[in-house]
Amino acid sequence: MKRTRIKDALESMDVGAEVALAGWVRTVRTSKGGFSFLALNDGSCMATIQVVADSALPNYDAVAHLTTGCSVIVRGELVASPAKGQRVEVKATEVQVVGLADADTYPIQPKHHTFEFLRQQAHLRTRTNTFGAVARVRNAVCAAIHEFFQSRHFLYVHTPIITASDCEGAGQLFRVTTLDHAQPPRTPEGQIDYSQDFFGRSSYLTVSGQLEVETYACSLGNVYTFGPTFRAENSNTPRHLAEFWMVEPEIVFADLADDADLAEQFLKFLFRAVLDRCGQDVAFFNERIDKTVIDTLTHVADSDFVRLDYTEAVEILQKADRQWDYPPAWGNDLQTEHERFLTEQTFKKPVILMNYPASIKPFYMRLNDDGRTVAAMDVLVPKIGEIIGGSQREERLDVLESRIDAQHMRKEDYWWYTDLRRYGTVPHAGFGLGLERTVQFVTGMANIRDVIPFPRAPRSADF
Ligand code: 4AD
Ligand code: MG
Repeated sequence: MKRTRIKDALESMDVGAEVALAGWVRTVRTSKGGFSFLALNDGSCMATIQVVADSALPNYDAVAHLTTGCSVIVRGELVASPAKGQRVEVKATEVQVVGLADADTYPIQPKHHTFEFLRQQAHLRTRTNTFGAVARVRNAVCAAIHEFFQSRHFLYVHTPIITASDCEGAGQLFRVTTLDHAQPPRTPEGQIDYSQDFFGRSSYLTVSGQLEVETYACSLGNVYTFGPTFRAENSNTPRHLAEFWMVEPEIVFADLADDADLAEQFLKFLFRAVLDRCGQDVAFFNERIDKTVIDTLTHVADSDFVRLDYTEAVEILQKADRQWDYPPAWGNDLQTEHERFLTEQTFKKPVILMNYPASIKPFYMRLNDDGRTVAAMDVLVPKIGEIIGGSQREERLDVLESRIDAQHMRKEDYWWYTDLRRYGTVPHAGFGLGLERTVQFVTGMANIRDVIPFPRAPRSADF
């Protein structure tokens, strides 16, 4: 018999239908009158379905002794439920016990667990309401990302995970090597000789697919890459991971204003998709995690984002009547406290900050006519701060080369990147959206480590 998902069973109007369900027992209640009630979950939705097993079942004794975490296959009839809060339940004709879960050792008992505890049980935490919901929302966001770009005819490009270039120039690279750490080969000068390494050169895990995806954009038109990225950034914050997923569109014959338009449409599309498609899960987050999630998402999906120059933002922050941990000053990067102030206090909606000082931004961003700012943009949202970072790219060969020099990078390492400006250069732009920060924003989950299955952060790479 074909299996029915519990979500479909619960939504079914087909009372009297024969169903087969398979999942994990959340709770068991056995009544004196010879009935056992199993709350069964299979991950298809937040809710459990009630399975009623009676003593006529040949293995009733085993069923009555099931515990939280056991796996079962249930066959039976869908019947109208007399219990409150559920339309239907299943009257079991067969309960096949598939896997037991020792009640003395099974860690996910039906009681409150802290997120810190559940992080240590990351292999089982998806059996809780919160982590099941996070997984479904993350999936819906990813599907919507592809839908948004595919429906606009952007080409999906797979950029490499292992790369030789440091796109962001921040030196936060994880080195990839097979050299013997105890006895690495040395150059005559005594340095480690990476020419003898696996790739015959230094190589790293990518911090961004941007530089490589630009090559596809500059021949095939609008493109996007979407994959894992890595940063050896020693930030122990609720918004940083060492391994995170980033989606990076790149648009051609386009400038910073086009880039900002795309970012705004994209975010609104994603937030709408989550509201429309993950209703039960979002309602759960709104009730249990952050009471403002639905209002914020609806408001953001319906309102125009503010567009503001970095220079004006610094003036607003300097005039604010407030003690800063880091006093705002032109030329310094904005801190999360500044970003949150702008979105939560000043404007109460997302802000696209544009035209940052060249000195604090990577080499590839297009130099503005003032000579001291670049055509950069960050999209800031309440609570999270920066959710998107992007820019128009420097398409003028001479300016790009002088920016590479100014940042003390080696031009010869970027010969292929500068070739794009040498042959048929075009104005182009793009951005990167952090997937985990997006999932945080739509769920209200406070810690980024709780919105990725197996978080990697400083001093933490379990599982
Ligand atoms: O602003 P970032 O560093 O931009 C880039 O990497 C560009 N190359 C993107 C592009 O133009 N194609 O990172 C983009 C986004 C950030 O806004 C943030 O949402 C996320 O990636 N991000 C992180 N998320 C989690 N943990 C980290 N350590 C992150 N660093 C960046
Ligand atoms: Mg950034």
